Amino acid sequence: MPTLAEHIASRRTFAIISHPDAGKTTLTEKLLLYSGSIQTAGSVKGKASSKHAVSDWMDIEKERGISVTSSVLQFEHDGCCVNILDTPGHQDFSEDTYRTLMAADAAVMVIDAAKGVEAQTKKLFKVCTLRHIPIFTFVNKMDRESRDPFELMEEIETVLGIGTYPMNWPIGNGRTFRGVFDRQTRNVIAFDGEGRGNSTKKVAEIEAELGDAALDELIGSDNHQNLMDDIELLDGAADEFDLDAVRAGKLSPVFFGSALTNFGVEPFLKEFLRLAPAPLPYTDTISGDLVDPQRKEFAGFVFKIQANMDKNHRDRIAFVRICSGKFERGMEAFHVQGGKKLKLATGTSLMADDRATVDEAYAGDIVGLFDPGIFSIGDTVCKGEHVQFPPIPTFSPEHFARITQVNTLKRKQFVKGMHELAQEGAVQIFREPGFGMESVICGVVGVLQLDVLETRLKNEYGVEVRRQGMPYTDIRWIANDLNELDTSRLNITRDTKLVEDMRGGRLLLFTNSWNVNWAIDHNPDLKLSEVGNVN
Ligand code: G4P
Repeated sequence: MPTLAEHIASRRTFAIISHPDAGKTTLTEKLLLYSGSIQTAGSVKGKASSKHAVSDWMDIEKERGISVTSSVLQFEHDGCCVNILDTPGHQDFSEDTYRTLMAADAAVMVIDAAKGVEAQTKKLFKVCTLRHIPIFTFVNKMDRESRDPFELMEEIETVLGIGTYPMNWPIGNGRTFRGVFDRQTRNVIAFDGEGRGNSTKKVAEIEAELGDAALDELIGSDNHQNLMDDIELLDGAADEFDLDAVRAGKLSPVFFGSALTNFGVEPFLKEFLRLAPAPLPYTDTISGDLVDPQRKEFAGFVFKIQANMDKNHRDRIAFVRICSGKFERGMEAFHVQGGKKLKLATGTSLMADDRATVDEAYAGDIVGLFDPGIFSIGDTVCKGEHVQFPPIPTFSPEHFARITQVNTLKRKQFVKGMHELAQEGAVQIFREPGFGMESVICGVVGVLQLDVLETRLKNEYGVEVRRQGMPYTDIRWIANDLNELDTSRLNITRDTKLVEDMRGGRLLLFTNSWNVNWAIDHNPDLKLSEVGNVN
């Protein structure tokens, strides 16, 4: 039987980030296939087809064939217990994606070899850097016409501001793609093209020295010559592999491959598990110290709340990232924000469509706790000496709409629904000073969140609403203390709006960044911040 320390040390918890269509779902599936967790590819997410994602739980997701919420996939491989935090891949992705990254110890960034760094990769990358977690790069779709690998690496370095270290190097691309050169073993891993589709066939690994005539035959003499030139360039480049820099999120190990044809997935997984960290410590805001994941007592925080997964029940599920010790079903723990002891009655494992009940889980794992409406995003639950993890930042909404109830008789349900959905983190809501609660301003990271809001208000609270888009693009929290700044004296442009969040925090909504600068220039005392705190 492994000890508590061994259980924890074997955990690898990470999220895969990418721009839509780069291949995140395909790579996830192939990782699960290699681990033996699923038998058929296509069961992670079915796009616009009869296949449905394992995380689909709302009609809206099924209708559109996309995954709105994040779930967790767990499997064992090579002595590691691997947790993949799934994140919505659609471009209308939501804050859940951002929050999920707060629970990850590493990120895998999938890049389309023909497209390079795309818009959403940039946004998600920025959130990863908030936590200084290691970021691994998988350059995907090498079986298609691709951009020059040197150019891709340079783009990652300049656009994202992270160093790169190629762990392997592609031999040709598209129709001339013949495999990769492993820089550590100095072996060529050959691509035979037969692994296409969803087979689990392993690829051939051929030991051949660069310059060996046999390689001419295997990969073609042109490819061979190009490879020798490239490797000479790479070996001569100044950057050494530096694990500390990887762990600090300053250097990204880069792998080339093709998830669809299975090429490069297994070597990637092996290296990733070797280099990725075991559960990382989180800060305790009470003592200011780091909480050692190996601490005996259980502690964790809520990073996501999901309501009504089962339509017959109104329960919510609070997703808890375990930061230390061991979780046991039915254990009693202290809910720090509520100031009360609770029985953590049920945990669920979120593997595939089988919501098996979890009896025990360890630091690094995610458990879903049944939540009768007591948890908020960022809350801490712990045993032993009290700890409190830092609040999860509120990410700046990028779209705004005024939501007004249609039937004034339903005021109570509307207020309740808006309040509960905001508490759950489904949307951010703002109030205009002087306005009542029958009309609120909603802010979201992805427009889809507004569709989800409307559907849920109707289905779960019986409330019809009217939605009116608002032209705001930039939001800033006012960081000054209440008595330090009188907002009625602010010198702002006419289309800038002053609002309050649910905790009375003051914010300004701007229609463009020029107006933000105007407010800064004309109000010397005004302190603005791009992030607020959920609690
Ligand atoms: P996402 O989750 O990042 O949005 O991407 P996803 O894995 O769904 O992949 C997007 C498309 O790219 C899919 O094709 C997928 O088959 C293809 N793809 C993924 N990896 C590779 C690869 O290594 N090589 C090639 N050539 N294609 C790849 P689709 O036609 O849009 O969807 P589907 O109908 O095949 O599922």
